[in-house]
Amino acid sequence: MTTSQRILITAALPYANGPIHLGHLAGAYLPADIYARYQRLKGRDVLFLCGSDEHGVAITITAEKEKITPQAVVDRYHEMNAAAFARFGMSFDNYSRTSLPLHHDTTRDFLLAFRKRGILKEKKEKQFFDEKAGMFLPDRYVRGTCPVCGNPDARGDQCETCGTYLDPMQLKEPRSAISGDPPVVRETTHLYFPLGEFQDRIERYVKERDARDGWKENVLQYCRGWFKEGLQDRAVTRDLSWGVHIPLPGYENKVVYVWFDAVLGYISSAKEWALREGRPDAWKEYWLDPATKYVAFIGKDNVVFHTIVFPAMLMAWNDGGKEQFVLPENVPANEFLNFEGQKFSKSRGWGIDVQDFLDKFPADPLRYYLAGALPEYRDSDFTWRDFQAKNNNELADIFGNFVNRTLAFAHRMFNGIVPERGPLNDTDNEALAVLARTPQKAGELFEQYRFRDGLTEVMNLARAANKYFNDSEPWKTARTDPARCATAINISVQLTRSLAILMSPIVPSSAEKLWQMLRLPGKAATQSWDDAGALPIPDAHVLGTTEILFAKIEDETIAGEISALGNVPAAPPAAPVAAGPGPVMIDDFKKIDLRVGKILKAERLPKSEKLLKLQVAVGPETRQIIAGIAKHYAPEDLVGKNVVVVYNLRPAKLMGEDSQGMLLAASDGSGKLAIVVPAEDIASGAIVR
Ligand code: MF3
Ligand code: ZN
Repeated sequence: MTTSQRILITAALPYANGPIHLGHLAGAYLPADIYARYQRLKGRDVLFLCGSDEHGVAITITAEKEKITPQAVVDRYHEMNAAAFARFGMSFDNYSRTSLPLHHDTTRDFLLAFRKRGILKEKKEKQFFDEKAGMFLPDRYVRGTCPVCGNPDARGDQCETCGTYLDPMQLKEPRSAISGDPPVVRETTHLYFPLGEFQDRIERYVKERDARDGWKENVLQYCRGWFKEGLQDRAVTRDLSWGVHIPLPGYENKVVYVWFDAVLGYISSAKEWALREGRPDAWKEYWLDPATKYVAFIGKDNVVFHTIVFPAMLMAWNDGGKEQFVLPENVPANEFLNFEGQKFSKSRGWGIDVQDFLDKFPADPLRYYLAGALPEYRDSDFTWRDFQAKNNNELADIFGNFVNRTLAFAHRMFNGIVPERGPLNDTDNEALAVLARTPQKAGELFEQYRFRDGLTEVMNLARAANKYFNDSEPWKTARTDPARCATAINISVQLTRSLAILMSPIVPSSAEKLWQMLRLPGKAATQSWDDAGALPIPDAHVLGTTEILFAKIEDETIAGEISALGNVPAAPPAAPVAAGPGPVMIDDFKKIDLRVGKILKAERLPKSEKLLKLQVAVGPETRQIIAGIAKHYAPEDLVGKNVVVVYNLRPAKLMGEDSQGMLLAASDGSGKLAIVVPAEDIASGAIVR
């Protein structure tokens, strides 16, 4: 007996520290789910795992703020996120949580084995300490200025603006996240994982897997950056009380570093799944079989942990000679999805939670929209208007419309009985040729983690199907050539079946609804992808009752969502063309020296509501520019942005501050203002003309 290929799929374990939003879905979860559903249709033996990441400082900070226990925080958000994922149609085989004893045991197995084998070294290090709170300040307990990009509010573990992975000691002007005071430095002891020793092996590993499975360019670029910097040894313990406890003398008041335990959560989730299945060892069939293909879906901020830290941990374990875990074959990380042009931000209330969204709209239109807008190569944007347009003009008007007209016709003219398929003509053959090649074409793209392009192929089949229906004119041939009409409807019904299968990874519940409308045995999700191009519905098959698959979304509904955003105009008003200064000669224009600058630092001017003080890199020099944009931009949103600077503007003093130049910005008379940014990343100092 041959076993089908095993595919282990994981999606990053989200922190149980807040509700997941649409950005999370587009980053890791939807692509992982499309991939899992597609692979199941391919007949592969899939294990798809996720769970809540329940440790880490972010959670204890929330607990302190709310004056509840960390356990209460994670209980709340674990339930919430598990429910949100279920409503969104995630097909996890298990959704675990890292506060389970099973997971703590798995983590300790790794830690203690590494310690015993001398892999983990004990080192004394200097750490920030908050004297008022009487505690060490690891990771996010310290905030300060990022040494790389100058973001004034970088977290101790990572700068969210430039993505740099940090040690709290690297922050400039550090302050405690608890008291706000500058911390003192004290000595403490920790266990270190020797990541540096693994650099060669990790580089070879990335090269080999990339050659085998084609890693994404963005992921490779992050890796190259870290390799170039050189991998550093990392502390894997922390002076905290919330987390996995360590049964070693001297470590009574310490826990395992959250990332060391979180990635092992993928293994614990498999173990929990196996226990639920009543086959406690079944997890080994995936994790310990060298033939398993393991794919780890994540967002871009998690790349280092999945391409470097986790593989190194697994290598270290495998070196022990006991169990041999598979390493990720690929780590398809997406960039970020923005919301109406800005980063999702919990604190600013910008964005929408999954549950709130699903209270208003069904999951499938959201899945369809996000699948077409995945940030696969660069950041992308959710907008309400696009969402409405994709739902109405594509999902409803192309896919939904083809299904409706076909099944309505079959009911009206053939009493819901699939008519006989006679000899085929060119129109039939053309449609069937598109059908025959779509599963393979779309499948190849899904195998390469190119979900947007794969979806386009499937939708092209729906487009071809509509064209086929139009060209066949069954409403005419019903009178003039009944056999032709029968053939066209037979083929159209077969095409709806094919689309149900091929669309099921994207819009799973609509696919099942369609499957029931066709009254076919089993489920769309249990069919074979490779046979989706076949025409298996027999003549005289009796169809089920028809319903509308996708409702249109009204303008008022969307306008309501947009106005709820507050500061986004319902439809951006076209600015009247302002009377300008009249024509100039090109030589006059050339007198203005425009250059690209990169904003390094931005802060408010205490006495001004309008002005921001910016430090802008223009080539090798840094200029201070006072810009009247404080009402339109938060300082933290500007850092890292490229702008256009009037470089030879005579220096001036504004509110007592030197200003050496100005930024270009557009305003449309509605009070809105937008800074001008180059469309692509380009070196600061570049000349604009
Ligand atoms: N909780 C992390 C985040 O949301 C992701 C953890 S992924 C894991 O960014 F592999 F560590 F679990
Ligand atoms: Zn930074």
